[in-house]
Amino acid sequence: MGQQQLNVCVVGAGYVGLTTGVCLAYLGHQVTCIDKDREKIDMLLAGRAPIYEPGLEDLLRLANARLKFTTSPEACRHADVIILAVGTPPTPNGNADLSFMEAAAAEVAAQLTGERFQVIVNKSTVPVGTAQRVNLIITTAIASRGGSANFAVASNPEFLREGVAIHDTLYPDRIVIGSASNEAINMLRVMYAPILEQTFAAPKVCPRPERFDLPALVTTDVTSAEMIKYAANAFLAMKISFINEIGGLCEKVGADVTEVARGIGLDKRIGPRFLQAGLGWGGSCFGKDTAALIRTAQEYGYDMPIVSATVSVNRRQRLRAIDKLQETLKVVRGRTIGLLGLAFKPDTDDLRDAPALDIIRVLLEMGARVKVYDPVALENFKIQYPNLAVEPCKNASELSQDCDAVIIVTEWEEFRHLPLAELAEKMTGAKVLIDGRNIIDRQDAEKAGLRYVGFGR
Ligand code: UGA
Repeated sequence: MGQQQLNVCVVGAGYVGLTTGVCLAYLGHQVTCIDKDREKIDMLLAGRAPIYEPGLEDLLRLANARLKFTTSPEACRHADVIILAVGTPPTPNGNADLSFMEAAAAEVAAQLTGERFQVIVNKSTVPVGTAQRVNLIITTAIASRGGSANFAVASNPEFLREGVAIHDTLYPDRIVIGSASNEAINMLRVMYAPILEQTFAAPKVCPRPERFDLPALVTTDVTSAEMIKYAANAFLAMKISFINEIGGLCEKVGADVTEVARGIGLDKRIGPRFLQAGLGWGGSCFGKDTAALIRTAQEYGYDMPIVSATVSVNRRQRLRAIDKLQETLKVVRGRTIGLLGLAFKPDTDDLRDAPALDIIRVLLEMGARVKVYDPVALENFKIQYPNLAVEPCKNASELSQDCDAVIIVTEWEEFRHLPLAELAEKMTGAKVLIDGRNIIDRQDAEKAGLRYVGFGR
């Protein structure tokens, strides 16, 4: 392929780090993934992915010859590029907790010899100013041991979605690189050349989309790169909250939000994606990033009413499922309610900030009996929430037995093809189907004998 092979270290083998590392190895670079979690590293050494992500294990196998996994940061010594992809969990006040990031920077600093130029890349989602902070930590560490510095820091945010992480890494819309150093930008341009030019053979597990334009490369200053990440997530979250707010009014006036989304989405300035109304967004990113953005703004005494409203509309949206139960069943106490879907979205077992959790808690407080089913996240749920007194079920059919209402919480593909007649037969009372993701045809549901309640329609 004539592409230059780089030596890359990825610190943090979570979603972002692991996907990035495995993809870069697949593209031809020599990659070492470093993580403190021995168990995780052992799993990876055995060829297994510690997270559920479609295609990841296949790619792991394909790239195996160029991939190393270790708990020791020593490999950073010989790396051209060191990617920091450690967690930045939210603190109670909405700030991102940078302690993992700072510890990783210090560990990396201890390995830098100054013999070769090295690029330190911030890939974790970190507040504005973190690249400067990483730069300071490393510079200070090197100076205090009297070493010579020969590195530059770059911000290179990622935009991958869970469940389609490999696709989003190999076929992105754009790659953003922010750095004050042209040498660093050039190094990363080389690292990403196979993606930017699409010169690699697409893996069978993740074929190149039929219509795909080469990704744009955005090179900019670090602070703007850091801001791009937050602004992108806040905008996407806002799009969803916007359509949900419109959906609420659609219900009042008798319009169908899916029609409205279709009608506005065809305007190229708006675009059709992220306009699916329903129970709203969850996951580890939108909630955390909108909170961090608001928090940063507060530090400057600056108001962000649009981002704040995005968050409050989403909070309200989840509880609309409860309103709809009260509207249809009247009394919720003592009823049996089934939840189809626990994961915050399909194709993942991730439960972080999942709408299902809020709905379960409120239902239990109200005195309902709650049954749950999820094709993948059930095991995770049992481990993480052993105290939530719900009844796990093996499938939708078992779940529906004796339910007064069933709520579709996650748009798993299999829920698009539910055996509606069977569900109706097993359910009891008003037999309400609350379609929290607008994936079922009202007429089909009603023909099967269910009382259908959508969102915004
Ligand atoms: C999101 C962004 O989409 C990625 O670009 C970004 O890189 C990532 O966060 C991150 O910062 O790491 P992710 O959280 O994996 O990705 O999931 P999305 O596919 O964006 O979905 C987020 C939530 O929005 C889900 O709960 C989904 O059900 C909901 N959603 C999405 C809607 O309610 N309506 C829509 O139209 C689209």
